[in-house]
Amino acid sequence: MNLNDKVTIITGGGQGIGRALSLGFAGYGATVIVADINEQGTQGTVDIIRKEGGKAQGVHLDVTDEASVQALFKVAVETFGGVDIVINNSGVAGPKGQTESVTLDDWRQANSINVDGMFLMCKHAIPVLRNRGKGVILNVSSVSAKRPLIERANYCAAKAAVIGLTRSLALECGQWNIRVNAICPGAVEGPRQDAILRHAAAAAGISFEEAAARKKSNSPLNSFVPPSHIAEVAAFLCSDKASSMTGQDINISAGAWMC
Ligand SMILES: NC(=O)c1ccc[n+]([C@@H]2O[C@H](COP(=O)([O-])OP(=O)(O)OC[C@H]3O[C@@H](n4cnc5c(N)ncnc54)[C@H](O)[C@@H]3O)[C@@H](O)[C@H]2O)c1
Repeated sequence: MNLNDKVTIITGGGQGIGRALSLGFAGYGATVIVADINEQGTQGTVDIIRKEGGKAQGVHLDVTDEASVQALFKVAVETFGGVDIVINNSGVAGPKGQTESVTLDDWRQANSINVDGMFLMCKHAIPVLRNRGKGVILNVSSVSAKRPLIERANYCAAKAAVIGLTRSLALECGQWNIRVNAICPGAVEGPRQDAILRHAAAAAGISFEEAAARKKSNSPLNSFVPPSHIAEVAAFLCSDKASSMTGQDINISAGAWMC
C-alpha cells in the first residue's frame, strides 16, 4: 500500500487499535499525527514510529472540546500544509448494565466522546480536506452497531450513530472528492478485550481461557482480530486503491458477524 507522505490524523492513537493504526500507516509512508487525550500514550506511539524511521508528531486532543479539535487541525495545517486522511478512532466502552440502571450523566459522558467527538472531528476535517481537493475520513464503529450486546445499549446506540453519520457525510462530501467510510471491528486482541474476558469469566464462574475459547468460537476462523489486521484494512480504505468506496461500513471481525 502506498500512503507516502499522506498527512494522516489518528485520534486515540496513544494505545490499542489507534496505536496499531498509527504504526501501520507510518509503515506505509504516511506522516502520522497521533492525537490523544493521553499524552504519555501519544508520546509512546510517536517514539516507536520515529525509532522505526517513520514520520510522526503528537498533539494533545480532547475530542469532546471543540476548541481542542480546532487547534489540532490548525497545528496540522501550519506544520504540514494540510491533511489528507482523518481517522476517528477515539472511543470509550461507556456504561454497562441494564438500561434502567444507567444514569443520564453516564450516557451523555460516553456519547460526548463516541458520538459528539466524532461529529466535531468530521465537522472540522471537511473544510481542511476540501482545501486539499480530495480526502478521506474513516470512522471507527463496531460490529456492536449491528449485532446488539446485552447490557451495552449505550455503546451499541453510539456505534450505530457512527454509521449513520458516516453514510450521511458520504452523501454530503462526495461533491468535494472526500470519501467517508466506517470500519466495524469485532473482538480485537488487546487490553480492552482482556478486561471483557475477565468480566465474562467471573460472571460465568469459568477460567479466563475458557471464556476466551467460547468467545473465539463465534468466529468461523476461531480467532480474535489482531490490531495490525485492522490497520491493514484501514490502510486499503484510505488509499487510492479504494477510490470508488464511500459510505461503507466494513466488518473486520474474523467472520463473527456477516452483515
Ligand atoms: N477493542 C475492541 O475489541 C473494539 C471492537 C470494536 C470497536 N472498537 C473501537 O475501536 C476504537 C479503539 O478501541 P481500543 O480498544 O483501542 O480502545 P482503547 O480504550 O484501548 O483506546 C481508546 C483511545 O481513545 C483515547 N481517548 C479517550 N477519550 C478521549 C478523548 N476525549 N479525546 C481524545 N482521545 C480520547 C484514549 O486515551 C485511548 O488512547 C474505539 O472507538 C472502540 O470503540 C474496539
